[in-house]
Amino acid sequence: MLDVLNPADPAFARDPYPYYARLRAGAPVARVPLANGTHAWLVTGYDEARSVLADPRFSNVPPRAAGRPRPDSPDRRARACLERHMLNSDAPDHLRLRRLTTAAFTPRRVDALRPRIEELTDGLLAQLSGRLAREGRADLVDDFAFPLPVLVIAEVLGVPEADRDELREWTYRVGSPADALEPGAVQEAWTSLHAYFTGLIAEKRRRPGDDLFSVLARDARDSGDEAGAQDGGLDDGELLAMAFLLLFAGYETTMNLLGSASLMLLTHPAELAAARAGGPAHWEAVAEETLRHGSPLEGSTWRRTTEPVALGDGVTIPAEEPVLVMLAAANRDPARFPDPDAFRPARHLPGGTRPAPHLAFGHGPHFCLGARLARLEAAVALPRLFAALPGVALDADPATLPYRPGLLVRGPRALPVRSG
Ligand code: HEM
Repeated sequence: MLDVLNPADPAFARDPYPYYARLRAGAPVARVPLANGTHAWLVTGYDEARSVLADPRFSNVPPRAAGRPRPDSPDRRARACLERHMLNSDAPDHLRLRRLTTAAFTPRRVDALRPRIEELTDGLLAQLSGRLAREGRADLVDDFAFPLPVLVIAEVLGVPEADRDELREWTYRVGSPADALEPGAVQEAWTSLHAYFTGLIAEKRRRPGDDLFSVLARDARDSGDEAGAQDGGLDDGELLAMAFLLLFAGYETTMNLLGSASLMLLTHPAELAAARAGGPAHWEAVAEETLRHGSPLEGSTWRRTTEPVALGDGVTIPAEEPVLVMLAAANRDPARFPDPDAFRPARHLPGGTRPAPHLAFGHGPHFCLGARLARLEAAVALPRLFAALPGVALDADPATLPYRPGLLVRGPRALPVRSG
């Protein structure tokens, strides 16, 4: 009999790995009862995860919103709009949306962001060092791991400098649990973001900049809305959904990567010393090991079987069943990663054990569009952070740090530090 899975349980959020290990040892694909009375098929084995992520019989299109409230208020309209993005689509629609965006995310365009990411990092670190000097304490999530990815996405979207504080505040609000803020604040932030992005798109069409988002807006403008959708351009709603997707796919994940990497280094002083002594390749290995060990996206987005699918070992998932690929579990499958729970960046160094490719960025047609950008952010941010704060130390018991609840994202919600 399987344990009921309660994603809201703080102990599970902090350390879901023992549960996943038990589940995988029983069956790498299992039907799991959830605390809300429903169930889901959880994929926890590495090989099974790769095969599901690449299999077109698993659809990413959410079931039509039967029973859900109609989008009859501005904030609900904004949320409904967010749902129309490529991660929620299957071929051939997915291919069309993805093709258009790859033009904006070429390695050359992403790599060209490096000097700006360095400037943004240094700006935040100056503030952080100032705070530590003044107050003796700071929070590496609130003061660094959260704002940096938001500022980088603002760069990608071409949001003018003057608007960035507002963007950061709205993003912070929509990402906060509703009960953590005053009533209505989350709804208001959704509405503001929707209005802001609508205006930004109009502006990018009138006066395209050299940001990545202008490349997308220009494609849509050139081909026109309706016709554009038919011959390969993005229509208005798709462009708006794309802005939301880039913001949310891009900030929360990267925030967790930076937060988890910082936590691992602060709690593994030998690894921090090795990274400090080791140069760029070592910092990249820290990021890769954090992606594997910490899985900033704990689970894939929801899939649904379009027909019965046999997955080996006599397991067949019936049609129309909800499926989650637990990337965090697959990334610690002992069949693929020796001593999977140990944090060992050296695995990824030349001469290391050459582990299997981790699944932190997914696999198959929906493989993360922003993987290169996320790796670039980590490669810039982590060495600069630990160079700017030579004696920084964790100011909390790591075993009690709060983690984000739920099955989608994984990372510490706070990382209190003091100057050494
Ligand atoms: C550490 C940081 C990141 C991680 C761990 C991550 C992880 C992932 C994963 C696992 C998927 C596939 C989900 C699935 O198949 O259900 C995905 C998709 C995606 N990611 Fe990322 N991501 C990161 C950063 C970013 C950034 C910085 C951006 C954009 C600026 C981005 C944009 C996207 C987009 C647009 C998709 C959808 C791709 C598609 O449907 O074809 N991600 N990401």
